[in-house]
Amino acid sequence: MKAEPINIIPKDKVTTRALNSVANKGLVECRDIGVVFGSGGSRVEAVKSVSLTVNPGEFVSVIGPSGCGKSSLLSIVAGFTKPTSGTAALDGAVIKGPGSERGVVFQQYSLFPWLTVRKNVEFGLKMAGVARTRRETSARTLLGLAGLLAFENHYPDQLSGGMRQRIGIVRALATSPQVLLMDEPFGALDTQTRTVMQEILTNMWQQFRISVFFITHDIEESIFLSDRIYVMTARPGRIKAEIVVPLPRPRTAAMTSTKEFTDLVQQLKALIREESLAAMGTELTSGGVTGFGMEVGPEGVGNVL
Ligand SMILES: Nc1ncnc2c1ncn2[C@@H]1O[C@H](COP(=O)(O)OP(=O)(O)O)[C@@H](O)[C@H]1O
Ligand SMILES: [Mg+2]
Repeated sequence: MKAEPINIIPKDKVTTRALNSVANKGLVECRDIGVVFGSGGSRVEAVKSVSLTVNPGEFVSVIGPSGCGKSSLLSIVAGFTKPTSGTAALDGAVIKGPGSERGVVFQQYSLFPWLTVRKNVEFGLKMAGVARTRRETSARTLLGLAGLLAFENHYPDQLSGGMRQRIGIVRALATSPQVLLMDEPFGALDTQTRTVMQEILTNMWQQFRISVFFITHDIEESIFLSDRIYVMTARPGRIKAEIVVPLPRPRTAAMTSTKEFTDLVQQLKALIREESLAAMGTELTSGGVTGFGMEVGPEGVGNVL
């Protein structure tokens, strides 16, 4: 049975961005996707009947507890994993493998340590057969837009984690993809760097006007960046809710302390908490949390120890 999306914010309150009228490519459609790994005793059903859409130029996040199948889903859209059932399509064409029209950024920096920053950015273009002068110009233009041109001749290990991840994003953009697929790209960064990276990403996204399919388990991050958020259940991951983020663009750090923002955080927290507990094999009851072999009341652990 498919979960009915919940729109916490009525659609008529949503600010329509000019962006949507500009982008006409980058439509991602996942239809009834199921993913099963292994068989027999080692069978793991990771994803179940997931249908979702990223509209051209839209920033969409998928959020859910650890192990709920988020990376599996992104891997299908990237073309690295084949779904056991259902289909994923980009602009109407079924995804059968990786392609340059989809740029991928993972949590781990995937830059080549033996190549300079510019050569890393050029790599995809080189693979696509783009001539040397043209790919140099493209890489320098992109690095300039991202404020990284001064580092073009540095090697990745001379740079901070935040800087490397920015270059990872620039590299993913170099082949002019229709959609950027990002799997917890800031997960390895400290909180301060992460916040700055979120601002950089939202600014870059406004410049490049492409669709983004973003995976995270960070509630604030998903709200700050996204137009829409899909919340997944515990494994097997299904869509539990679909939330439209009503904040205007461009997003600013000041918005994170508005009532609209903090209300959304609370709503998402409640949704995710249920699923995180389910993922831990624990039941949420009216009296408190069970499942650790003891009963804990609403006062917490203090009164039983
Ligand atoms: N290649 C694989 N083989 C077997 N099990 C896998 C594989 N990839 C993921 N899984 C399992 O599928 C489930 C979902 O994993 P994943 O998509 O990585 O979740 P998430 O990204 O939400 O943490 C997990 O239980 C994980 O152990
Ligand atoms: Mg993951």
